[in-house]
Order: sequence, then structure tokens, then C-alpha cells
Amino acid sequence: MGSTNQTGDSVFILLGLSGDPGQQQILFVLFLALYLVTVGGNLLIVLAIGTDSHLHSPMYFFLANLSLDDICFSSATIPKMLANIQTSSSAISYAGCLSQVYFSFLFGDLDEFFLAVMAYDRFMAICRPLSYTTAMSPRNCVLLVAACWVLAQLNSLLHTILLAQLTFCADRTIPHFFCDLAPLLLLSCSSTSINELALISVGGAVILLPLMCILGSYVYIVSAILRMPSAGSMHKAFSSCGSHLAVVSLFYGTAISEYLCPSPPGSTDESRLAAVSYAVVTPLLNPFVYSLRNHDLQRALYRFLCRRKPSNLLGSIQKLVLAHSQTPTPPRDSVDLSDEQGFLEMGIC
Ligand SMILES: *[C@@H]1O[C@H](CO)[C@@H](O)[C@H](O)[C@H]1NC(C)=O
Repeated sequence: MGSTNQTGDSVFILLGLSGDPGQQQILFVLFLALYLVTVGGNLLIVLAIGTDSHLHSPMYFFLANLSLDDICFSSATIPKMLANIQTSSSAISYAGCLSQVYFSFLFGDLDEFFLAVMAYDRFMAICRPLSYTTAMSPRNCVLLVAACWVLAQLNSLLHTILLAQLTFCADRTIPHFFCDLAPLLLLSCSSTSINELALISVGGAVILLPLMCILGSYVYIVSAILRMPSAGSMHKAFSSCGSHLAVVSLFYGTAISEYLCPSPPGSTDESRLAAVSYAVVTPLLNPFVYSLRNHDLQRALYRFLCRRKPSNLLGSIQKLVLAHSQTPTPPRDSVDLSDEQGFLEMGIC
């Protein structure tokens, strides 16, 4: 009996965020709107950066990568949830469940790594301006992005393979809106000690090391800002720092509470709320927070949206694809380093 339960065509039941049909319709509309804004906002950033040659610098390449990753991250979880509500079915196949774990870990990890790389990039630009151009050469940027990909792949493969070893018995009801690792471990009827060990050690390192890199970079950046002469630029820098740090702490705080603090089986509401904030809200907020005070990016967005007839949109996407398939133009040199206002204009921190 136990072994037939383990076949590939068996299904899990995702309870979603609510069992009430009326609430489900509200949730459907809400999450559809959140998803469309996430995909639209992030896609705009990728296209605006790709089509604007002024924005071909490391910071914007990383931001475009982050935006692309946020689109993938929210696509790993939200569409399946929406489809389940719409078809009044809560089923997800065993393979579907494993791939949700794999992709949510992959893109979630990438999100963490890209945020860390972006903080490091700003640290180098502000605190080590003389070695910035060498440290962030096009080759090193590609290497950094590639390293993020490899590490994220390895970590998500590790957790998915360990999860695939587990046996699931009669109760296959997941009180969650996607197949997340933590509720799946609670559901398994074989021993999950190896999975938990991997989650605490490797998973912990994957969350905490980028977090330390981010916090370290910001400590240096803030102390550099404090030495700035004008109170106006200080205020501006702090307010954009503050919004970045708010998103970072929302993302890391909820991810840490979900994966690193073992929750008792009864606390499904907190666990679902935490998952909503790191898997749905963070990918939504990232494009807004990182472009809010960024005038270069706002100008590029404006150019992309307004100085272009709608019929030219396809043409510009084509141009973008062509440009990317040819040899890349070397990124613009780092900004004029004597000009602190230039950094603030870039919406840094
Ligand atoms: C991601 O970053 C790499 C390295 O900087 C860059 O070559 C690539 O174009 C970026 N991807 C996007 C979508 O901007």
C-alpha cells in the first residue's frame, strides 16, 4: 500500500489560502492582480534597461537580472494557485509538486544572491571607487551572475533530491498555496532528519551569507554617507537606503522564519502568511523599490513608454534580442566619482 502511494502519478492536495468559495474568488482576483503587476513591472524594467544604452552598467544589468528572476519566481507559484481556484480543483501531481519546490528554491535563492550582488556593487561604487571599474568589469559581472546561478541550482537540487527520497502516506493534504518544502516535510511519514539537517546547514548558509554581505555593505555605505557634507543629499540617500533595507528585511525575515525556525504543525496560518510575503510580495515590491528614486531608470522607462509608438514595441524587442545575440557593448564606465550627487541621482545605496 505504502509503495503504490509512491508512484509518479499520485497527487497532493493544495488547500490554498482559504477553503471558503466566496473568499477564494476574492483571492483569485487579488492574486491575479498582484501577479500581473509583478510581471508587468519587472518586464518594463528589463525592457527599459535593455533598450537604453545609458543603462548598460553593472548596476542595471544586475537589476535587470533581478527583475527577470522575480518574474520567474512569482510564476513558479502563483499561476498554479490561480488555475486551481478557477478549476475548483486542489490537486497537484507528485512531479508538479517536486518541480514547484525546485523552482521556488532556485528563483528564491537567486533573488537572495542578486540582492547581495547589488549591495556589493553599490559598496564597491561608493566605498572603493578607484577599483570599481576593475572589480566590476564585464567579465567579472558575468562571472558573478554565473556563480549565483550555479549555487542556486546546487542548493535547490540538493533539497529537491532529498525530498524525492521521502515516503508520503495516506494524508497528502498540504495546508499551503504551493508545494513549499517546510509543509511537505511535516507531511512525510518517513524520517525527515536528513532533510532538516540540510535545510538548517546548507539552506541556512544560503540565506545567512548573502544577508551578512548585504548588511555589511550597507554598514559601509551608511558610514560613507554620514561623511557627506550636505544634509539634503544625506536625507535622500537615507530614504532610498531605508526602502531597500525594508524590502530586504521583509524577504529575509519571512524566509528565515519559514525555513530556519522549525514551526509546530499547528501554525499553518503564520507559515502561509510568511510564504505570501517572500514568494508574492517581495517580487512585486522589488521593481518599485529599486526604481522609485532612480531618475536614470525613470527617464529610460519614460523614453521606452512614451517616445515610442505602440507598433514600434515589437521592433524594439527585436532590436533588443539582436543586440544581445551580437557581441555585447562594453558597459559605460562608472559614474564620475567626484560627483556624489551623481550617485544619489542613480538612486543608489
Ligand atoms: C544579467 O547580467 C549579465 C552579466 O552582467 C548580463 O550580461 C545580462 O545581460 C543580464 N541579463 C539581463 C536580462 O539584463
